[in-house]
Amino acid sequence: IATADQQQPAPSENTASESQTEKLNILFGSHTGNSEALAYDLASKAKEKGIETEVSDMASFKPRNLKKISNLAVIVSTHGLGEPPVQAEDLYNFLHGKKAPDLSHVRFSVLALGDSSYVDFCQTGKDFDAALEKLGAQRIGSRQDCDVDYEEEAEAWQQTFLQALSKSSNAESAVEVPNYTTAPVKETKYSRNNPFEATILEKVRLNGRGSSKETIHLELDLEGSGLQYEPGDALGVYGANPTSLIEKVLSATNLSGNEKVQSHKGEKSLKEALTYDYELTPLSRVNLSKYEELIGSTKLKEVLSDNMKILEYLPGRDFLDLLEEEPHKFEANELLSVLRKNTPRMYSIASSQDAVENEVHLLVSVVRYSAFGREKEGHCSATLADRLQVDDKVKVFVDKNSRFKLPTDPEAPVIMIGPGTGVAPFRAFMQHREVSEKKGPSWLFFGDRNFTTDFLYQTEWQQYLKEGVLTKADVAFSRDQEQRFYVQHRMMEKGKELYDWLEKGAHFYVCGDAKKMAKDVDIALREIIQQQGGVTPEKAEEYIKYLQVSKRYQSDVY
Ligand code: 2AM
Repeated sequence: IATADQQQPAPSENTASESQTEKLNILFGSHTGNSEALAYDLASKAKEKGIETEVSDMASFKPRNLKKISNLAVIVSTHGLGEPPVQAEDLYNFLHGKKAPDLSHVRFSVLALGDSSYVDFCQTGKDFDAALEKLGAQRIGSRQDCDVDYEEEAEAWQQTFLQALSKSSNAESAVEVPNYTTAPVKETKYSRNNPFEATILEKVRLNGRGSSKETIHLELDLEGSGLQYEPGDALGVYGANPTSLIEKVLSATNLSGNEKVQSHKGEKSLKEALTYDYELTPLSRVNLSKYEELIGSTKLKEVLSDNMKILEYLPGRDFLDLLEEEPHKFEANELLSVLRKNTPRMYSIASSQDAVENEVHLLVSVVRYSAFGREKEGHCSATLADRLQVDDKVKVFVDKNSRFKLPTDPEAPVIMIGPGTGVAPFRAFMQHREVSEKKGPSWLFFGDRNFTTDFLYQTEWQQYLKEGVLTKADVAFSRDQEQRFYVQHRMMEKGKELYDWLEKGAHFYVCGDAKKMAKDVDIALREIIQQQGGVTPEKAEEYIKYLQVSKRYQSDVY
């Protein structure tokens, strides 16, 4: 509903009239595609208000164009340990560098995406926000930091920002512009907020006896859901807390569990809310500060005052540890107010719908550890491993990932680096290529700890090699010899051939651990380009950037 300013002339169909809000530039720096999706969403909302928009990927945005911008929305995620995603690096460095221009002609707001279980929560967004201010730009809507469960907050930020924008231009459109967002091709009613209850058809532990790892393969039934996915997409899965942990939390807080509470999912018993609607593990900075606010603990205040102290405090602790160390007598609803909403975990899908039709397959690494005197586990992975069996149902939805896709040319070569559960999307890639008519060469690098117990999907890869779906496969079993040997070491050994593949147009994919593996693989790739191409580090950097911009270097890391 547009607020009518009767003095305003009606804008013509395509061009915004002069007195309207000037064009809004939306810059996104996306890692998984969430920022990108939000950028386009903001654009369509702005268009509804009659505001002209231009959406750009930071990866291909020319910093000199900043001169021409009046209104700017920055939507950016934070990568790994507080760093910008690769797509945002250049602009980030530019704005923090010596050549950064005066931006006093710009009005802006920042939407920061992140994960509050990391200490440097939303750091990249915070940095952009501060840099723009420092360069003289005028903030017209405060920054919003969003956790993995970002939808509501992002929506609120979009509304506030668009309102602020119209107000500051002193020209709200008098005309209702029809909603002309394009209709999605095929709709399913199931989504993050309305997940589908999929039946577990099969569950197998893939590691052999005696393995130090616990990796499970799951097959779920999507029949009747209308859910569609493509290789590279992820499945969002909702976990539930174990009764044993809930009971300990209840006894530490002197609550029975039968209290009626108002959860974000409606009214129910405390016990039910603690099982399905909130998370008890892991502990995040946000939990900690909400807890501190509620109980006013000097010890926690001290911890929260310093990043290093938080970094020391959080690892291994869960909510029950906090309750036991800093006890407090809660009202049932208060207890919920400090907890993080149950957030789905995203698993890279390990199957292709062209091959398995109504099923979806997952490869899940089960997280278990012992800390502060108790055995602990991953919220979702342990739900799948321990609390759900074949024939049980689990809540899921498809999370599209436009940033991790097979080449549009089915005959283009692909190089896939997927140690551990990182191999999941490559199983989907190979299933997809197996059933498609045209297929280019493909090369898999797999790694895990031991050949005898941890060669995930070994027979499938062998079959693909035999059929020619997979052209080459190289492995790196890290613990079968004295010295750790990883996928990047194998890549270096095969450097010449790998470079030849790149020169022939291969797309390079890496999936798996973000903290160490993906970084080391990236370093190895740069070294290979330098050595085999006989070029300087700067030229290798350009080569990499070119691969990234042309979508031939894609990563799905976590
Ligand atoms: P490790 O556990 O023996 O150290 C899948 O988890 C495989 O990735 C394992 O073999 C694991 O080895 C290995 N890995 C660990 N750190 C890595 C790194 N920095 N780069 C590549 N692989 C790594």
